[in-house]
Amino acid sequence: MEGKKRETFSGSITIFLATLGSAVGLGNIWKFPYLTGENGGGAFVLSYLFCVLLVGIPIMVGEFYIGRRSRKNAVGAFSKLNAPKFFKSIGYFGTLSAFIIMFFYSAVAGWVYSYVFKALTGKFNLLRSMPMEKAVKFTSDTFAFTASGNLYPMLWQAVVFIIVSIILMAGIKNGIEKVTKILMPLLFLLIIICDIRALTLPKAPEGLNFLFHVDISKLSKSVILTALGLAFFKLSLGMGTMITYGSYFTEEEKLINTSMRVALSDTLVSLLAGIAVFPVVFQFGMEPSGGAGLLFKTIPLVFSKMPFGNILLAAFFLLASIAATTAMISMVEVPVAFISEEYKINRKLSVLITTSIMFIIGVLTVHPNSIFGAVKILNRSFFDNFDFLSSNILLPLGGLLIAIFIGYFVLKENLKDELLKGYSSEKVNMVSAYRFIIRYVTPILLLVVFLNSIGII
Ligand code: TRP
Repeated sequence: MEGKKRETFSGSITIFLATLGSAVGLGNIWKFPYLTGENGGGAFVLSYLFCVLLVGIPIMVGEFYIGRRSRKNAVGAFSKLNAPKFFKSIGYFGTLSAFIIMFFYSAVAGWVYSYVFKALTGKFNLLRSMPMEKAVKFTSDTFAFTASGNLYPMLWQAVVFIIVSIILMAGIKNGIEKVTKILMPLLFLLIIICDIRALTLPKAPEGLNFLFHVDISKLSKSVILTALGLAFFKLSLGMGTMITYGSYFTEEEKLINTSMRVALSDTLVSLLAGIAVFPVVFQFGMEPSGGAGLLFKTIPLVFSKMPFGNILLAAFFLLASIAATTAMISMVEVPVAFISEEYKINRKLSVLITTSIMFIIGVLTVHPNSIFGAVKILNRSFFDNFDFLSSNILLPLGGLLIAIFIGYFVLKENLKDELLKGYSSEKVNMVSAYRFIIRYVTPILLLVVFLNSIGII
């Protein structure tokens, strides 16, 4: 690529949609509702919003800065910016995180894909005539089979990797950019239809109360750490995805504005997903803390008695699959870019190597019935350990290093120069405020939550 002009996204709208395409994924539709359920509702949601505001947005701006200033991949960027060698570890850890996240993310994506198929083939038709209790049991049995059947989940995980590989090999820009432009708004529309349906259930107020009523007594170390981890996971931060995307931004793009728009839209999608799920949970007397299966046990019930319910159900999971797929692509792209650029391996081969390793280790570890599926470390399955290790340790650690780099190693003039691009007036106060936050607020918050969680303070 040296000597050739590096490609950029075509403009502000594409930048917004591509970045939002990375952020919006299973994190919103699957993780947010079930973590809110497990962590006591409103208090968790509020901590999450704080984490997005004080940690997520500042770090996203930082990643965009590193990407656009260097116009390089997550490892190369730090050499280009003359960072101390040590900061390159952000790129290496990022590559590791991409693998660890993909081991389980691809399995969940497989569940989502399989629900599209189930809806289309009429698996949920029976629900229409079932009494409530039987319907609840039917959806939870269906989920159990989807996630822990013998070969079934592995086959769907293979389908996920085949699709991700094909798209990555074909090059993402033309395909994904165009596809997300139509499908992201559609996803939005379908979630709103789900919301309307959920909100008209008699017990909707209980669901909303759970989601929005803040009960401070529910706050604990682990609730706050989980909220922080979710903010990283949700906004694709701490592992170089946003550095890579930032490196494709145009010179006029306003980095602070973009971060805020992406973070707010992403949060809106999460809240809308929560509004679709919790009224159903309370209506059907389910446990909010039901864990990873929550989405799969509730959404089929939302649609079961509606006209065209099957089609809407298929459409909902189809769009969830697309959201998951665009997010996965942004994740897998980090190791692919790294391997192909740093080791000069052809891009298609890099994709093949990366996805094969992800698939093999993923299949062997995350399914309850596979070889290592029953192994527990620290009392947690591989699935949970991968999830915990990435969201609660690797991503926040990457974020901390990014904050330190931006706050203490980037010259104020350079930061000002880059962040003010695109503005017609000199918004010096904005840059000073940002610099204050990234120097003092973000890293200190991160450290406190972090040290707290490992029991040091
Ligand atoms: N943000 C995506 C989601 O919510 C997942 C994701 C994509 C991600 N790229 C990432 C998470 C990079 C962490 C790091 O589903």
